[in-house]
Amino acid sequence: MKRRSLIREEIRKLAAYVPGEQPKGERLLKLNTNENPYPPAPGVARAIRAEIGACLRLYPDPVSARFRERVGKALGFACDQVIAGNGSDDLLMMCLRAFAGEGDLVQFPWPSYSLYPVLAHIQSARVRRVPFGARYELRVDAFDPRAALTFVANPNAPSGTSVSAAFLRRLARRLKGVLVVDEAYADFARENALALARSEPNVLVSRSLSKSFSLAGMRLGFAMGSRDLVAALFKVKDSYNLDRLAQAAGEAAFADLAWHRRCTRRIVRTRERFRAALERRGWDVLPSEANFVFVRPPSGDAEGWFSALRKRGILVRWFSSEETRERLRITVGTDAEMRTVLRAVDAVAGGD
Ligand SMILES: Cc1ncc(COP(=O)(O)O)c(C=O)c1O
Repeated sequence: MKRRSLIREEIRKLAAYVPGEQPKGERLLKLNTNENPYPPAPGVARAIRAEIGACLRLYPDPVSARFRERVGKALGFACDQVIAGNGSDDLLMMCLRAFAGEGDLVQFPWPSYSLYPVLAHIQSARVRRVPFGARYELRVDAFDPRAALTFVANPNAPSGTSVSAAFLRRLARRLKGVLVVDEAYADFARENALALARSEPNVLVSRSLSKSFSLAGMRLGFAMGSRDLVAALFKVKDSYNLDRLAQAAGEAAFADLAWHRRCTRRIVRTRERFRAALERRGWDVLPSEANFVFVRPPSGDAEGWFSALRKRGILVRWFSSEETRERLRITVGTDAEMRTVLRAVDAVAGGD
C-alpha cells in the first residue's frame, strides 16, 4: 500500500523564505540586511551580563511583562495592549495564526517583505498581492475589503517608500479584517501609525528592535493595538517566546531612548547625504524613509553592479524578480562606510 506523504501538501510545494546572506569568514562591508552600524545602548550589554549571572536555570517570564511595560510607557499603550515577540517575524506569524485560517484571504502590497506569502502559505490561506504603482504609490481601492488579514510594511521593504498615516486610516476603515502595519523601519520615518493602533479596533502595529535599536542578533520585537487583538495574539504565541537575555536587553534598550534617538538621527542624515551623492552620479533613488535606499544604476544592470561591488568587498542586496531586478537595496551604514561605497561606485563607473 502506498503511504500518504508525511509532509503536508502546502509545505511540500512551499518555497521557504530566503534570508539575506550572512557571510562566513570573508571580510565584507555588510550592507545587505538593514542592520544598524552603531552598537546598542551601553546599558544593554550590562543588563545581559547581569542576567547571565542571575538565574538562567529558570524559565523566563512567559509574557515579558517588564519589557512590555517599558514599551507601553514609552509609546503610550497600556501593558495589555502590547505583546512581545522573538523578532517581529514572530509577531507576523502570530497574526497569521490568530487572524487567517485555511482559505482565508491574506493581502499585502507587492513587492514587499517576502516573508508574508510564506507565512500565508504555511497557514493554507489565500494570497493576494496588491500591486504598487511605478514609484511605489498605493491606492486604497486596490485592496480587497473582505481580506481577513492585510499587511502593509510602512516604510516598505525593499523600496523604503511610505504611505501617510491618513492613507492607512482610510484603508483601516475600508477593511473588514485586521490591518497589520509592519513598522520595522518606522523609527527612521517622519510618520507612524501608533495613533491608529490606539483608535482603530482592527489595527495592529508591529515593531522591531533589529534595526533602530541595533539588536538584530537578539531577536526582539513587539506589537500594539486593541486589547482584543493583542489577547488573541497571546493565545497563539509560543509559551516562552522571549528568553531571559532578550527580555533584559529589550528593557535596557528602552531605558536609554536618548541613545536610540541619536543613532537613528545619524542614520537619517547619512541616508540623505548618500541619496544626494548617488543622484549626482545619475542613479535613481526612491524617496526612502527607512535605513536603506532602493536604487537604480544608470544602466539598469543592478545584477552586474551587485557582482562588481561584491568584488570590491561590499555586500548589498539584489532581488531577482521582474519588478525589482533593475535595483539594488543598500543599507545605510556610517558616513565613512557610505564614502567607501561611493568610491567603489566611481571606480566601477570609471572602468577600474
Ligand atoms: C518589513 C520587515 N518586517 C519585519 C522584518 C523582520 O524583523 P525582525 O528582525 O524583527 O524579525 C523585516 C526584516 O528585514 C522587514 O524588512
